[in-house]
Amino acid sequence: MQEQLDKLVEQALAGLSKVLDDQELQNWRIRYLGRSAEVGKVLEGLPKLPAEERPAVGRRVNEVKSSLEKAFDEKVQALRLQALERSLGEEKLDVTLPGLPPKRGRIHPSTQTMREIISIWAVMGFQVYRSREVETDEYNFGLLNFPPHHPARDMQDSFYTTDPEVILRTHTSPGQIHVMRERAPEPIRVVLPGMCFRHEQITARSEIQFNQIEGLAVGTNITMADLKGTLIAFARLFFGQDVRTRFRASYFPFTEPSAELDIECFVCGGDGCPVCKRTGWLEILGSGMVHPTVLENGGYDPSIYSGFAFGMGPERITMLKHGIEDIRYFWGNDLRFLEQF
Ligand code: DAH
Repeated sequence: MQEQLDKLVEQALAGLSKVLDDQELQNWRIRYLGRSAEVGKVLEGLPKLPAEERPAVGRRVNEVKSSLEKAFDEKVQALRLQALERSLGEEKLDVTLPGLPPKRGRIHPSTQTMREIISIWAVMGFQVYRSREVETDEYNFGLLNFPPHHPARDMQDSFYTTDPEVILRTHTSPGQIHVMRERAPEPIRVVLPGMCFRHEQITARSEIQFNQIEGLAVGTNITMADLKGTLIAFARLFFGQDVRTRFRASYFPFTEPSAELDIECFVCGGDGCPVCKRTGWLEILGSGMVHPTVLENGGYDPSIYSGFAFGMGPERITMLKHGIEDIRYFWGNDLRFLEQF
């Protein structure tokens, strides 16, 4: 019986060494390791053996089984390695071909414009001041000299919270009060960028959320000439040295006097076209000398201090710059739009 087993092992290993593929390997496994395998057949003769020989033969049978299992596992590995080597040899891989470039994100067009604008103000000595998006009615309107029943305070325009005193800021101007209260009586030169919210019908021209960049300069010797010179310098740095500008008188509760800055329409060169609504001019920002009441609310004595302020909309400026017709593209998350910047 021992001899029978030795022959079986020899035969099995010889068979295994001839196995070339998975199919043959499976056949081999069924033949030598399966339920009705050859080893089992050898065991059929066990009862005929004298009782004292049986344990030794049983042990030997187990040894044979595990050595065949081990040989089988090694063959599996060997076949895998062979297959890999074959495919490496046969399939030609050109490792010098360029890979697939990973998709890259990009900076949102509004952010690009904001950074460009902020870096120009930085050159002129204006620090960035981050103010809050959630404001009180007092900061958003009251301290900025809005009369109690001013239409901008209407429930229709502001997003109110459950607390009627707490709203989402409708403009970046309340940040002026925060900076002044923090810095008084130091001179101030800051820009305040950020998101604003208005409860309005969404159209091609107005969104319920949009960015603004506010500017504020406060000191002891600031005049309207500083306002004009600074804003014209900004327009030239942003739109080009040759840009023509004009100030148009306007009204804001928190500035006196107030003015809007227009630049000559760069689409038609001032002749009049649909972009400038046939006026030849494009409005780019609101501005003015800080109202004495606002200075006082910020902690500056208006008989000593003066200042100028301005506010502009980066989305509007981006639209003018790139001829974008609909403000809704900015938050529409359409890659066909965003990928152009
Ligand atoms: N806060 C104004 C708005 O939302 C914009 C503005 C105008 C800001 C004049 C200013 C300014 O600081 O002086 O329409």
